[in-house]
Amino acid sequence: MSLDPLLLRKDFPMYRKDGQYKGLPLVYLDNAATTFKPECVLKAQDSYYLDFTANAHRGDYALAHDVDVAYEGARKTIARFLNAKEDEIVFTSGDTMGLNMVAYGLLPLLKPGDEILLSLEEHASNVLPWFEVSRMSGAIIKYIPLENGRITEKALKSVLTNKTKVVSLATVSNVLGYVLDTKRLCALAHSVGAIYVEDGAQSVPHMKTDVQESDVDFLVFSGHKMCGPLGIGVLYGKRERLSSLHPLFYGGEMNARFDKEGKLSLSDVPWRFEAGTQNIAGAIGLAKACEYLQDIGFDKIVEHERKLRKRAVQGLLGNGNCVVYNPDAESGIVTFNVKNVFAQDAAGYLGSKGVFVRSGQHCAKLLPEVLSCQATIRASIYLYNTTDDVDALIEHSKHAEDFLDVFFA
Ligand code: ALA
Repeated sequence: MSLDPLLLRKDFPMYRKDGQYKGLPLVYLDNAATTFKPECVLKAQDSYYLDFTANAHRGDYALAHDVDVAYEGARKTIARFLNAKEDEIVFTSGDTMGLNMVAYGLLPLLKPGDEILLSLEEHASNVLPWFEVSRMSGAIIKYIPLENGRITEKALKSVLTNKTKVVSLATVSNVLGYVLDTKRLCALAHSVGAIYVEDGAQSVPHMKTDVQESDVDFLVFSGHKMCGPLGIGVLYGKRERLSSLHPLFYGGEMNARFDKEGKLSLSDVPWRFEAGTQNIAGAIGLAKACEYLQDIGFDKIVEHERKLRKRAVQGLLGNGNCVVYNPDAESGIVTFNVKNVFAQDAAGYLGSKGVFVRSGQHCAKLLPEVLSCQATIRASIYLYNTTDDVDALIEHSKHAEDFLDVFFA
């Protein structure tokens, strides 16, 4: 049976006011930016504050023990979700923190002339930490050429050398929405001994992720883009990779001991990467979000998003006044423009009708030169979106030239 978004909406408090926001139908199509949260996630998160608040890994009393069990239980749930081992799961504040931890953590292993491979469609979070690390280490950044927006094995091979030390790519671009064959790209990277870093911000929320199957060395993602709370994310690393990664943050609990001469022994993996009091409530909420998505089933989520994206692309192109930049992408991201209307004006117009999309460069600031276009509108679909949402996007896009009437009415 396929997924029923109207039934799912009952789980989401954001839809409780008859699916309206400020008197207009709530057509939320900005799920690549963040997602709504189901009640079960909010309840799981709140239970920490309401029923068992204490710090984790610090107290020797029953309440603290219960917190330890819940926090480490969340790690176990997330490990199962990724087909990883629990000591390979590090809690972070989100994707950006995870990528910074990997980039800076690999810094001592990089030397001048080493190569780091990225692409021009990466989000700032998967570019800027590498820029810094390249400046500090003398390693060189190279870009894998895009073939019609896609990163293929052939494209990766064309820049891969025995100097390649890191390949860091988003499995789903947050603008073009193409899905990479991470397993094959990772195998290629490994063939020259490079480390493969997967930015899973836009893939983990939408499709099944199996780190043993893909064999990636590191994977990062954010909870808030997958029905989880803000301020919590995950850095997965193979045990041997985490063991040789330099910690970026220092403080409580990440050390086993230190002395006044500065001699420091680190805690074991993964705790050496969790300095200071952690977002315990967030971790519990994220584990619940993983269970929620798994219960629905990623097969159904993928099918639902593909169906809606197809409808959106056909409808927008059928309008005659829209250009779609990724008509053949596999994910629920549809990136387009209304001809002769600046993207932000069109998005403002859509917003005035209750259709909420993102516009601009979407933090992927190297991509406009590839698209030959400074700004785009991005509609991003998730499990609670309906055909009515998509039809509203299509219908109002048809009239986006009228934005001046709205702004200067
Ligand atoms: N990274 C988020 C996006 O693509 C914020 O919109």
